[in-house]
Amino acid sequence: MNPFTYHHGELHAEDTPLAAIAQQVGTPFYCYAQEALEERYRRLAAACAESGTKIAYAVKANGNLAVIATFARLGAGADIVSGGELQRALAAGVPADRIVFSGVGKTTAEIDMALEHGVGQLNVESEDELADISRVAASRGTQAPIALRVNPDVAAGGHDKISTGRKTDKFGVAFDRAAELYARAAADTHLAPRGLAIHIGSQIHDISAFETAIDRLVVLRGHIRDAGHAVPHLDLGGGLGVAYDGGEDMPPAPYGGLLARVAAETGAELTIEPGRWLVAGAGLLVGQVLATKDAGDRRFVIVDAAMNDLIRPALYEASHPVWPVKKPPENAATDVITLAGPVCESTDVLARDVALSGVGTGDLVAIGMAGAYGAVLSSGYNGRRLVPEVMVRGRDFTVVRRRPTYEESMALDSLPEWMAGPDGAERGVA
Ligand code: LLP
Repeated sequence: MNPFTYHHGELHAEDTPLAAIAQQVGTPFYCYAQEALEERYRRLAAACAESGTKIAYAVKANGNLAVIATFARLGAGADIVSGGELQRALAAGVPADRIVFSGVGKTTAEIDMALEHGVGQLNVESEDELADISRVAASRGTQAPIALRVNPDVAAGGHDKISTGRKTDKFGVAFDRAAELYARAAADTHLAPRGLAIHIGSQIHDISAFETAIDRLVVLRGHIRDAGHAVPHLDLGGGLGVAYDGGEDMPPAPYGGLLARVAAETGAELTIEPGRWLVAGAGLLVGQVLATKDAGDRRFVIVDAAMNDLIRPALYEASHPVWPVKKPPENAATDVITLAGPVCESTDVLARDVALSGVGTGDLVAIGMAGAYGAVLSSGYNGRRLVPEVMVRGRDFTVVRRRPTYEESMALDSLPEWMAGPDGAERGVA
């Protein structure tokens, strides 16, 4: 289901014209389609049903409370990587025991916060972290439920910068150390090891990469069980790929089949941590054209959205589809253009060499597949305010993160006390 379609020549999100949102909210803004989010979740949940696999939504892909809550109400848990994401997941109504705390470095304060709230599992990524979690659990007089994230040494992922499962990547504990660490955790009265975890990368389309990594994990689980330890749980990470070029997203059914095989062979309880697959296609970034111009052999369309709002093209050479909000007439000439933002960096390009017809100054354009790793990766670079996020449901829409005022954008800054006050200018001068 594509939630973004033209009706009467106007691009809509579900049944709401994007132009109506722009008029009320201003541009740029992110727009999410709630029924599409729900449909994605249900499709994946259906593929997980046979194996009983639990879904822990990877909050990092889109941490808006309304998005997390949409999945939480359908029964999702959450995969988090920081104290901030823990607070978001709890605030959105995810039960603590359905939260998995991943992440390659957790502070003592974050571990403490996780134990205080009773998260379901902490995925341990190093020997030092194992010791740290044990110490914090001891100070609380409790036992920490942990899984050991291992590095299966499998290359996967749509881009070098989002591959995580090679042994040269910083993630997980080395495969050949895992059994020893698991035994150490089992002997520690403040740790309750409940399983193993992997996450091999993001934007994966090839199911054989998942198969290879999972098969290695299952072998490791066998060794650990042979040594007398229970390994009731396997966390298989996220990574399901989507199509940024209008092609096919990774179909959930074969993946579900793989999960069913693993569940049947091992009897283990399974969890997955998908992010992108659930949210990417349900989100757009909408901007307004500020200017068009020719430079060298290129035609530039400059919009008010920029790399600080959507950094994926600049950071990963990602290409997102671009659609005019007003459908161009059939006979309109097609320009091949570069869509760029106002930020003072040559890399502030949102789309390169895209065919776009009939778009001029003042028109709205939508950048597609922006629901994942869009708003969450935004910044205030160039003094730009964070972009608002809007949730659409049918004909209704509501702002689920508003645009801050300029005062709010500056509110955390302050002058040093020696510069403040009426004579501040004189003070501070040696
Ligand atoms: N679990 C762990 C431990 C992860 O590190 C990640 C993503 C996920 C789950 C969710 O992966 P997904 O299902 O979304 O592929 N900013 C990059 C993607 C970074 C992914 C980081 N880890 C991008 O925009 O392509």
